[in-house]
Amino acid sequence: MNVFTAIADMKSFTEALRREGRTIGFVPTMGFLHEGHLSLMRWARQENDIVVVSIFVNPSQFGPHEDLDRYPRDVAGDTKKCAAAGVDILFMPEAGEMYPEKPVVFVTVEGLSDILEGAVRPGHFRGVATVVAKLFNIVKPHTAYFGQKDFQQCAVVKRMAKDLNMDVDIIVLPTVREQDGLALSSRNTYLNPGERLAAASVSRALFVARDLIRANERDIEAIKQKMQSVLIGEPGLEIDYIEFADPDSLAPLRAVQDKNVLLVAVRLGNTRLIDNLLIV
Ligand code: PAJ
Repeated sequence: MNVFTAIADMKSFTEALRREGRTIGFVPTMGFLHEGHLSLMRWARQENDIVVVSIFVNPSQFGPHEDLDRYPRDVAGDTKKCAAAGVDILFMPEAGEMYPEKPVVFVTVEGLSDILEGAVRPGHFRGVATVVAKLFNIVKPHTAYFGQKDFQQCAVVKRMAKDLNMDVDIIVLPTVREQDGLALSSRNTYLNPGERLAAASVSRALFVARDLIRANERDIEAIKQKMQSVLIGEPGLEIDYIEFADPDSLAPLRAVQDKNVLLVAVRLGNTRLIDNLLIV
């Protein structure tokens, strides 16, 4: 596995590979890798000649009072995991390499960036879209892999690639969960044992909703209430939002339709957790 920290090295390497006609699959991450990240890498490994993974804790997608300073890091462990997953190139730039001067150009995906997570985290998706655009320009992948866990992020990135005519296919892969249903996340490490137990209620609430819809419940308010009753009993858990939305536009739904995405965000102590389920 090649490890690059300089943009120029990363660029010239994949430019040469592209000239040789090799296909490049890319998995952008912020590190502290878990099975969710690794599932994307394995998928990329199967579909491409070359697999590139980036690890960059992108400051511009964190708000001023968010967890940038305490975001978990494990460069040695991550490097081993990437090598074991068959990654060819690990790109780990420093912040000063990615942002040598105060940036003045940003990618804003209007609408999609302002609702749900974007409403709670102003500027977050501008930071994500901008860094993903930069990483695409540096890595020049044919295909990039994202996790459904961050459903809105996937929608933002897909729309960016489409509207800016980027030559990259965006593939969205299923959420990897713990045995009790909790979606894997680097932020789960913040949870104390009590919060960790309570966190499982988020996926439980989503599965309750799915079962209700399968049993022909069509009243969104009734479903939301059932979900709330699953979550409300959990000590220290605060609901940020429970939303039914159209999977493409993320527009809120008034009634259950053929394709729905159910999105949940909660707070447990200082930790924010998000999860979602596509119900088709
Ligand atoms: P990060 O949170 O490290 O996630 C990297 C990728 O792993 C994302 O596509 C995310 O959706 C996916 N992922 C996370 N948890 C997952 C799970 N349980 N199952 C499946 N996939 C999962 O998302 C980011 O980093 C950043 O915003 C980034 C796109 C790298 C831009 O900075």
